[in-house]
Amino acid sequence: MTQPGPGPETGVAGDGGAGDRGAGDRARAMSGRPRLTVFGTGYLGTAHAACLASLGFEVLGVDVDAARVSALQAGTLPFYEPGLEPLLRAGLRSGRLSFTTSYPAAAEFGDVHFICVGTPQRPGSGGADLSQFEACFAGLAPLLRRPCLVVGKSTVPPGTVVAYSQRLPATAPAGPGAELAWNPEFLREGHAVDDTLRPDRIVAGVWSDRAGVTLRAVYAEPLAAGVPFLVTDPATAEMVKVAANAFLATKISFINAMAEVCEVTGADVLSLADALGRDRRIGADGMRPGLGFGGGCLPKDIRALASRAAELGAGEALEFLHEIDAINQRRRSRVVDLAREAAGGRLVGRRVGVLGVAFKPGSDDIRDSPALEVAARIRALGARVAVFDPAAMDRARKVHPELVYTGSVLGAARDADALLVLTEWPEFSAADPGVLAKTVARRAIVDARHALDADVWRSFGWDYHAPGRPAPGSPGALPGRAAGVRPRQAEPPAAAASFLAAAV
Ligand code: UDX
Repeated sequence: MTQPGPGPETGVAGDGGAGDRGAGDRARAMSGRPRLTVFGTGYLGTAHAACLASLGFEVLGVDVDAARVSALQAGTLPFYEPGLEPLLRAGLRSGRLSFTTSYPAAAEFGDVHFICVGTPQRPGSGGADLSQFEACFAGLAPLLRRPCLVVGKSTVPPGTVVAYSQRLPATAPAGPGAELAWNPEFLREGHAVDDTLRPDRIVAGVWSDRAGVTLRAVYAEPLAAGVPFLVTDPATAEMVKVAANAFLATKISFINAMAEVCEVTGADVLSLADALGRDRRIGADGMRPGLGFGGGCLPKDIRALASRAAELGAGEALEFLHEIDAINQRRRSRVVDLAREAAGGRLVGRRVGVLGVAFKPGSDDIRDSPALEVAARIRALGARVAVFDPAAMDRARKVHPELVYTGSVLGAARDADALLVLTEWPEFSAADPGVLAKTVARRAIVDARHALDADVWRSFGWDYHAPGRPAPGSPGALPGRAAGVRPRQAEPPAAAASFLAAAV
């Protein structure tokens, strides 16, 4: 995400955008639809802008990064997101979607202004860095001369919305005519279009009926299709987002903590997750064990929530989130250990093939990617690491030039002493263990995301390792399998389950 703030008056708006007000005004008069702006053109903002344009709205995307604005205006996405580029191009072609760096043009254009800028982790602390949000607000508010709705979608820690709600009418020339609402976004990278157009629910945090009516108009189409519309006060809407992310992170770390216990009891975490997930009170979604969570949201959002709760005097209530974070970090160490085991007990001088560096499949995002961190740690421990990822290679190369970047699964596997699957891209699950067996130096595979069929790989002579699953010969292993390494005993099960003690 780029750093917003009031840009120079060099709008790149094209047909139907700020540069074509006459046609726009006529179209709006006929449709009665509000005109929309979207500040911040990262995953969230670009998906939101393109999806709303596809629903028939005139949308102006705004960013201070002129290169990004030019690329978007030319129909090029600056990141990988399935299905979004065609929607972007269709929006540009229709004349309903355009991009600009100009805040004055955006303030003049919009009836509803969505703020979708990034709120990354503050360096050196768990708190959120709200400087992009502040710059956007401070740039926009003084330009708002007529009644409008400013809608926050960025993920912010509790207490942020109330403060900005008070500042807006005091700063905007429109006074109380400029109102703040909160409408959190729950989209997952890799599913941004679907999650935007067909979300599980739309949460509208509003101070007035007018704001609720406006948001209903924006989301008329998904609402007509049956998407629930939940109206709350803005402070609750703000909490819904961070609480949802904290819950999802807790669910993933819960099953990964169980994986740690499985490893010392010989139980199988995949069968466990399946049996738990079929309980309707628990549910299977978000309970895939493995290398744990990363990306631009869950890790930093649980830290920001815990940090703000502590500032507000409620730190004890969210103490368990520190343990959730610790469980998640431990998965990365565990996979490094499994790689060492698979490579024959040491990493120095070994060749390790890594499949996947993105934080999850369907994305080129490497922010806090567990896969990339594991690859870099193995390299730092003395191995030669050759990686392949279908989408995230360019981004990874910039941050970790010391890794060897190859052009295919086979390239990463060539002469490897151990092969690791760290991101569950479908092409890795489809890889042929027979072909790969002839490419590697040793048939040793670590399936950190449970993406492979263990029995099939073993049938091709592979020494198969996966976190939370019994190794052949361990107490819980199926009879008849070849004897292999016993599960590691170093991690006491009490450590894995300690957050439960903190939680009760
Ligand atoms: C998340 C939330 O899902 C979304 O609602 C919010 O708006 C932003 O944060 P995202 O980061 O795109 O979205 O990805 P998500 O699919 O939730 O996965 C997050 C991480 O958890 C990934 O690293 C993924 O590999 C991991 N994960 C997810 C698991 O390890 N197990 C699971 O069962 C699910």
